[in-house]
Amino acid sequence: MEFRQLGYSGLKVPVLSFGAGTFGGGNTFFKAWGSSDVAEATRLVDVCLEAGVNLFDTADVYSDGLSEEILGEAIKGRRNQVLISTKATFRMSTKKGPNDLGSSRHHVMESCEASLRRLKIETIDIYHMHGFDALTPVEETLKTLDTLVQSGKVRYIACSNFSGWHLMKSLSVSERYGWSRYVGHQVYYSLIGREYEWELMPLALDQKVGALVWSPLGWGRLTGKIRRNQSIPAESRLHKTSDYGPQVADEYLYKVVDALDEVAKDTGKSVPQIALNWLVQKPTVANVIVGARNEEQLQQNLGSVGWNLTKEQVAKLDAASEVAPVYPYWHQRQFAERNPLPSSQR
Ligand SMILES: NC(=O)c1ccc[n+]([C@@H]2O[C@H](COP(=O)([O-])OP(=O)(O)OC[C@H]3O[C@@H](n4cnc5c(N)ncnc54)[C@H](OP(=O)(O)O)[C@@H]3O)[C@@H](O)[C@H]2O)c1
Repeated sequence: MEFRQLGYSGLKVPVLSFGAGTFGGGNTFFKAWGSSDVAEATRLVDVCLEAGVNLFDTADVYSDGLSEEILGEAIKGRRNQVLISTKATFRMSTKKGPNDLGSSRHHVMESCEASLRRLKIETIDIYHMHGFDALTPVEETLKTLDTLVQSGKVRYIACSNFSGWHLMKSLSVSERYGWSRYVGHQVYYSLIGREYEWELMPLALDQKVGALVWSPLGWGRLTGKIRRNQSIPAESRLHKTSDYGPQVADEYLYKVVDALDEVAKDTGKSVPQIALNWLVQKPTVANVIVGARNEEQLQQNLGSVGWNLTKEQVAKLDAASEVAPVYPYWHQRQFAERNPLPSSQR
């Protein structure tokens, strides 16, 4: 397994990690996502470790804490072989108080302690703010996260679902006070969701923030099970979850899947393997978080690395998935296209 440096840090992460969103099935939404119990989760962790994938991603809100609990059980006795990433900020449906959400000192401290308890570990390797909290001063959040790092409860901090200005402001506050900085940004990025490339990718390149990609199959759509004139199979989570997450126009999805099918014919690889390999080749991507509701899906997805799509195949997928950027990105692109850099500077 290839390991990549996570942003401006010394931490090396495997290019694929495993997303434990499918562990637990604790409420209607997460039940549709998956419901791996401890036995199945332990087997999936075994398979990952055998393949060299040692990073596991979860969050406090996944199945209201059940995902963390099950992951904690599944890694029992092998803590020193794994890296654990989890998240705070959003409200767990079991908690109703005014301070039970957001990135305040109160909520982050409580959430971190609770995650450590559920995971039964002493330190979290990568601790994410799951979203931006515009009501809490950025200084309060980052000082709290720095305290968690200084106390050894957290090793590296990261954010998720931030806008460009959220991340840039946070990095600048960390730098001003000499506090720990976000080294990773967990982002939605896929062949049917390329908005990451407009603002966040250039920012990540400039500021050395590694991307950890969530829902790399476009919220479970680029699985080879959906294409033109082929309806979603009964067992797919999409029947219950497609109203959440990224919304995708049918015709755009089919166009991308047509291109994936063509590349699948050329390579002998499956649709999900090609969609994942395309991501692994993109700048700033340090890690792609693979989702799988069972061992068969996991084994297939682990086969997405160790080989590379050709430049021509990447270009075909790029062209099929291209969408017109919103302002000001179309303006910036037009300027760049009319004033190309000499090849020596590209
Ligand atoms: N930071 C955030 O806000 C955020 C948000 C979402 C997710 N995440 C992280 O990202 C991880 C992955 O997200 P995701 O599950 O949405 O990823 P995804 O890769 O977009 O979708 C995974 C789903 O696709 C289907 N699938 C996967 N591999 C397949 C295969 N080889 N063949 C056929 N079907 C296959 C399965 O669903 P079916 O069997 O139902 O079709 C599986 O649950 C999560 O576990 C979590 O750790 C983070």
